Amino acid sequence: MKLSVLKERRANERRVAATPDTVKKYRALGYDVVVETGAGAEASYHDDQYVAAGATIAATMAEALQGADLVLKVQRPMSASEGADEISLIPPGAMVVGMLNPYGARADLEVYAQNKIVAMSMELMPRITRAQAMDVLSSQSNLVGYRAVLEAATEFGRAFPMMMTAAGTVSPARVFVMGAGVAGLQAIATARRLGAIVSATDVRPIAKEQVKSLGASFVMVENDETKQAETAGGYAKEMSEDYKLRQAELIAETIKKQDIVICTALIPGRAAPRLVSEEMVRSMKPGSVVVDLAVEQGGNCARSEAGKVVEFANVKIIGYRNMPSRIPVDSSALYARNVLSFITLLSEKAGGKLAVPWDDEIVKAVALTRDGAIINPLFQS
Ligand code: NAI
Repeated sequence: MKLSVLKERRANERRVAATPDTVKKYRALGYDVVVETGAGAEASYHDDQYVAAGATIAATMAEALQGADLVLKVQRPMSASEGADEISLIPPGAMVVGMLNPYGARADLEVYAQNKIVAMSMELMPRITRAQAMDVLSSQSNLVGYRAVLEAATEFGRAFPMMMTAAGTVSPARVFVMGAGVAGLQAIATARRLGAIVSATDVRPIAKEQVKSLGASFVMVENDETKQAETAGGYAKEMSEDYKLRQAELIAETIKKQDIVICTALIPGRAAPRLVSEEMVRSMKPGSVVVDLAVEQGGNCARSEAGKVVEFANVKIIGYRNMPSRIPVDSSALYARNVLSFITLLSEKAGGKLAVPWDDEIVKAVALTRDGAIINPLFQS
């Protein structure tokens, strides 16, 4: 079977869905691998490395997709109205694997079904032990948490660690991390390594131990509601209005003492919770920095703007889009390995053939469309 790796065409996307390393593994599984020219260039994976790994290079997207059985993507395929007609060049019956953003791009599911594409959305990977190696949200969030701290450090006019010099003492930066999931925990660890004094908050009480074990202090409104704040999948729920008010008071008190705020709070399938108000930003010292990683889901911070660094009340608010793409070599490498693990589950051991175990809970969670229909219960209404 032909496995195709396309160049990503969306704005700000520098990642690629397969690296020379994973191409070698696909070849070992027996797939014929075709990589569109330049697909990995922005992540420092070049055509000659793919060729050395056993791939052939296609000169155009159309050539890469011709006769493809399996198409690997980072982001969802583009339509003609978006500037490049990837979707209609995907052969009927082919499988597309990528971060297809089914909540944000619901209408695409109808197109996949109509075009008889088998669509697999990696963000829907269940958070079970067996699927850990395929968990793209974790692999990307981990790097994002790290990168967010570096972005903050770059915009911050002061140092992170305490320094005692002959010319005087530099006091350590105070970093507050909102949301202690995968990105938040890595942000805590990174800020600590740089020498900052770190605190964090979350609505899931279980986060307390994890935060403390990284040497940060934990700040949280804990009540009966937070006992049920976590879903079976480990995600946060939307909190009540009463809780939000109490949380806002606590955050307001905490934030005014901070130099850096890293916002990572998300609720799957919903707008990000608004945690940092204009007033709170105003209460921060001049030169402070807010990084809003939730900006593309509506933002945790009232003043963040997607794709921009804005200055409000003498505070810099960083709202970069697609943060994983700002560390493209590693984010591609980890994503590509996540995809490889998933494709391995769907493949025969050799001979380059798909043998999809449709009843497997991993496949059931990730599959959006098959045989012309939307099959995922989350999107069947
Ligand atoms: P996420 O990206 O959906 O959200 C980030 C964080 O924001 C979460 O910790 C969430 O509780 C927090 N949050 C949401 N609303 C908030 C609010 N109003 N105020 C403060 N914080 C708020 O979460 P992520 O990073 O994907 O991970 C969530 C959890 O999933 C992990 O901590 C872990 O328990 C679980 N997980 C399990 C894995 C597994 O394989 N078993 C793998 C990865 C994560």
